[in-house]
Amino acid sequence: MASFKDQVFLISGGARGLGEAQARQLVAAGAKVVIGDVLVDAGQQLAAELGAACVFQPLDVTEEAAWAEAVARAEALGPLNGLVNNAGVYTPMSMLDTDTAQFERHIRVNQLGTFLGMRAAVPAFERSGGGAIVNMSSTVALRSAPNSIAYTASKWAVRGMTKAAALELVDRHIRVNSVHPGPIDTDMLSVRSREDNLRRVQQVPMKRLGTKEEIARLVLFLLSEDSSYMTGSEVAMDGGAAL
Ligand SMILES: NC(=O)c1ccc[n+]([C@@H]2O[C@H](COP(=O)([O-])OP(=O)(O)OC[C@H]3O[C@@H](n4cnc5c(N)ncnc54)[C@H](O)[C@@H]3O)[C@@H](O)[C@H]2O)c1
Repeated sequence: MASFKDQVFLISGGARGLGEAQARQLVAAGAKVVIGDVLVDAGQQLAAELGAACVFQPLDVTEEAAWAEAVARAEALGPLNGLVNNAGVYTPMSMLDTDTAQFERHIRVNQLGTFLGMRAAVPAFERSGGGAIVNMSSTVALRSAPNSIAYTASKWAVRGMTKAAALELVDRHIRVNSVHPGPIDTDMLSVRSREDNLRRVQQVPMKRLGTKEEIARLVLFLLSEDSSYMTGSEVAMDGGAAL
C-alpha cells in the first residue's frame, strides 16, 4: 500500500460505510483524516477509536458554510492532500412515485454536495501545491437501475462534474476521478427489501456483494501518487457487472 504519512484528507460521509473504511485505511497508512458527516454520534465514535490521526467535523454537504469549516479543520492538521466526496443518499422509488422533494433531496446531497466540496477544497489544494479528488458515483451512472431516477440523475451528474473539474483543474495539479461501485455491503442497501438485494446479487457476474474494504483500496489508489497519470477517469468496481 502507498504511504500517506502525514498527508491530510477530508472524507464526506465518513462516519460509516464506505467512508468509514476509507478513513480506517488512510489512518492505517499514516494519514491524518477529517471525517465530515451529519451522523454526529457515529462520527465522533469512529474518530475516538482511530485516535489522534482522525477528527470528526459535523458536515452537511449541502451547506456551503459547513464545507468552509470542514476544509479549515483539515488544514489545521496540515496542507490538504485529498478530498473524497463520498456522502450520498439513495431511496429506491419509481419515477411516478418520485415527487419534487425526493428528486431534489438526491440532487442536493449527491450532486450539489459534490460540487460544493470540490469548490471548497480547491483553494486549499492550491495552497498545498496540488491534490486529488475522488467523487463517489455508482454503476447507475454507467448504465442505470430500476426505481432510481433521482439517484441515477445525481450520479450521472457526479460523473460529468468529475470530467469538467478534471479538465479545469489539471493545470493546478489537482486530479479528479470518479469511482463507480456496484452493490456493496453497507447500510445503504438496507433501504431495499431482502428479496430485492438477493435478486440484485444474482445479476452480478461474481454473485456476491462487494465489501467496503475493496472500494476503499480503490479510493486510496486514486488518492495516491500511484495513480499520478489518471484524471477524469471513471473507475468501476462492480464484480463484473460492467461486462
Ligand atoms: N453501498 C452501495 O452499494 C453503493 C453503490 C454505489 C455507490 N455508493 C455510494 O457510495 C457512497 C457511500 O455510501 P455507503 O454505501 O457507505 O452508504 P451509507 O448510507 O452507509 O453512508 C453514507 C454516508 O453519507 C452520509 N450523509 C448522507 N447525507 C449527508 C449529508 N447531507 N451531509 C453529510 N453526510 C451525509 C451518511 O450519514 C452516511 O454516513 C454514497 O455516495 C453512495 O451513493 C454506494
